Amino acid sequence: MSILDIIAKKRDKKELSKEEIEFFINGYTDGSIADYQAAALVMAIYINGMTDREITDLTMAMAYSGDVLDLSELGEVIDKHSTGGVGDKITLILMPVIAALGIPVAKMSGRGLGFTGGTIDKLESIPGYNTGVDIDTFIRNVKRCGIALMGQTLNLAPADKKIYGLRDTISCTDSIPLIASSIMSKKIAAGANKIVIDVTCGSGAFMKNKEDAENLASIMTQIGKLSGKETVCIITDMNEPVGYSVGNTLEVIEAVDILKNKYMPKDVKHIIEELGSNMLVLAGKAEDIQDGKSKIMEAIQSGRAYVKLLELVQNQGGDISYIEDTTKFESAKYVIPIEASKNGTITELDAYEIGRLSCYLGAGRQRKEDSINPKVGFTFNKKVGDTVQYKDIIGYIYADDEQKAYEVKEQLQQDIMID
Ligand code: URA
Repeated sequence: MSILDIIAKKRDKKELSKEEIEFFINGYTDGSIADYQAAALVMAIYINGMTDREITDLTMAMAYSGDVLDLSELGEVIDKHSTGGVGDKITLILMPVIAALGIPVAKMSGRGLGFTGGTIDKLESIPGYNTGVDIDTFIRNVKRCGIALMGQTLNLAPADKKIYGLRDTISCTDSIPLIASSIMSKKIAAGANKIVIDVTCGSGAFMKNKEDAENLASIMTQIGKLSGKETVCIITDMNEPVGYSVGNTLEVIEAVDILKNKYMPKDVKHIIEELGSNMLVLAGKAEDIQDGKSKIMEAIQSGRAYVKLLELVQNQGGDISYIEDTTKFESAKYVIPIEASKNGTITELDAYEIGRLSCYLGAGRQRKEDSINPKVGFTFNKKVGDTVQYKDIIGYIYADDEQKAYEVKEQLQQDIMID
């Protein structure tokens, strides 16, 4: 078998066999297939798509490209994943809530992809937090405090790790076969029994419309069933950023503030109630969705979820004094206000544009090996539907480069729609 023939076959819109898909995944994982060959094939998949059978075979080959965890000793583990978004700090809020409610959380998260942020980049903005713990520490932490969140540093779905990094740098992020196989391979390798997936939909998501979101949800549910893992997909809105902040450190601060009960953005409440209640029902810890929703909110209001977050950070080597006092996080050099251009109601805070500009400020990567700047991003005081007066401050830009900050301000001032 030759990778050249496989690339040519997909380039010519033909269906790949299971053996060809496995040949590609095994070869790319062990290094015998080069980055540029993988990039060509991934681009051909992006352009020409895959049948459901090919997507399932791709997922399974990626899931078994490394170790597959057996978490049965932990009991019923319910995993959660998002298809990606802007300002999406839901994992940082919801997983401590779930752990506080007695469901073991053993979660493998990803880095930023394209214009979307990633939980691992966010966690790494906490000084000392180790996203690369070994498997024994990972399981010990789950046993000890009920929660561990790590990156893909163990030998779990290593093919996804390589393809994910590659896609990010060749503009191949928003593809149903590539997203479905990426997410489901990680979930299968990470060993949870049941899975809840937040399928984001809107300008700040990879799925821009409901039809695509439903297709993605349907294929992931099908793959879940085939691999013996009950999977529930929930479609959520991603037309404006989630909550009020975008950027790694800024989102950690917002997640901490929410768990400290300082405030609760309406969209965050909706998403954590929807996902969380489904997780509780799957785990048999809530009678129904309504009961689940009230348990989710109670875990936050009582402060139990905040205590879990502290335990999580401490167990993974993070400095909890930053969580206790978030003013300790180093701020970006320039903090520049964004003002309303007229009186009226905000009709659009375009999540895609905000995500793209956040990457431009340094929150995302252009090349696989790039490092990111955790300090940059945005905070907003307003959401879509809020009224503003001319010159009201809608939010702030956090930047380390003054010129970029003013370029972004000019662009944002045009992008924020007020009627
Ligand atoms: N999250 C993933 O893990 N993979 C994707 O492709 C998109 C979101």
